[in-house]
Amino acid sequence: MSSSEETRPALRLERVRVTFHAGTPNERVALDDLSLDIAQEEFVVVIGSNGAGKSTMLNVISGALIPDGGRVELEGKDVTRLAVHRRAAYVGRVFQDPMLGTAPALSIEENLALAGRRGLRRGLRLALDASRRRHFAEILAPFGLGLDTRMRVLAGKLSGGQRQVLALLMASLRKPRLLLLDEHTAALDPGTADLVMRATRRIIEEDRLTALMITHNMQQAVDFGDRLLAMNAGRVRVDLGAAAKQGLSVDDLVQRFAGAADHHLLRA
Ligand SMILES: Nc1ncnc2c1ncn2[C@@H]1O[C@H](COP(=O)(O)OP(=O)(O)OP(=O)(O)O)[C@@H](O)[C@H]1O
Ligand SMILES: [Mg+2]
Repeated sequence: MSSSEETRPALRLERVRVTFHAGTPNERVALDDLSLDIAQEEFVVVIGSNGAGKSTMLNVISGALIPDGGRVELEGKDVTRLAVHRRAAYVGRVFQDPMLGTAPALSIEENLALAGRRGLRRGLRLALDASRRRHFAEILAPFGLGLDTRMRVLAGKLSGGQRQVLALLMASLRKPRLLLLDEHTAALDPGTADLVMRATRRIIEEDRLTALMITHNMQQAVDFGDRLLAMNAGRVRVDLGAAAKQGLSVDDLVQRFAGAADHHLLRA
């Protein structure tokens, strides 16, 4: 890797603008000339009140939404107008709803095979030889859910937490340059959310992924990631690096975040 590749950000948003219902009484600026750089292997947590623009930002990054203005770069490549499937190799995504990330009528191993083959031509059957099966069992085993011994169970039969762990593994199987997590533990009970967060950290660290995780859970925001962003009205209002995040309590965060709502950018 050349030195320019090492220093190139994994993601760059340059004055990204998204307006819904432009020119109508319902006009809503969801992203207000948003600019943001995310470094390689950074694990960034994003908080912000409902409607702040968090999911819209992820939609612009994944290609689900083409912005009205500005530029989206993944590893130096302009992807602003690239369709979702054309950047799927770069971007993995897990949603809040455990139903969205997995195919319920396929078994655990078929889901993993599908994720491994995404974008390639060969059929499922070919993908599922003995060594593939062994590999999938090996990557499932450390999560302690017993999924590795139930590889032929349909994903639709799994609990929400099990499905989210499977969805996480599927999203990260091809080692995406960027992993996008949109409140992926919000629909889970606290114990299961904890388990899925530990799985998340493990995958991000082991695969050295760059990740962007949205959460409304302030404890998660404090405990995870090495950078914390707070969004409001389509912009990043607070941007805390690892040093500033160290020792931050939930109370500190709530106080700082309340201060950010009056639109002053705090940077530490
Ligand atoms: N498809 C859409 N059509 C119209 N307006 C939209 C659409 N998607 C989002 N918006 C609006 O854009 C703004 C930002 O929404 P967004 O979903 O990005 O917020 P969010 O920060 O993810 O909020 P939440 O915490 O509730 O998930 C909101 O005002 C929302 O109503
Ligand atoms: Mg959202």
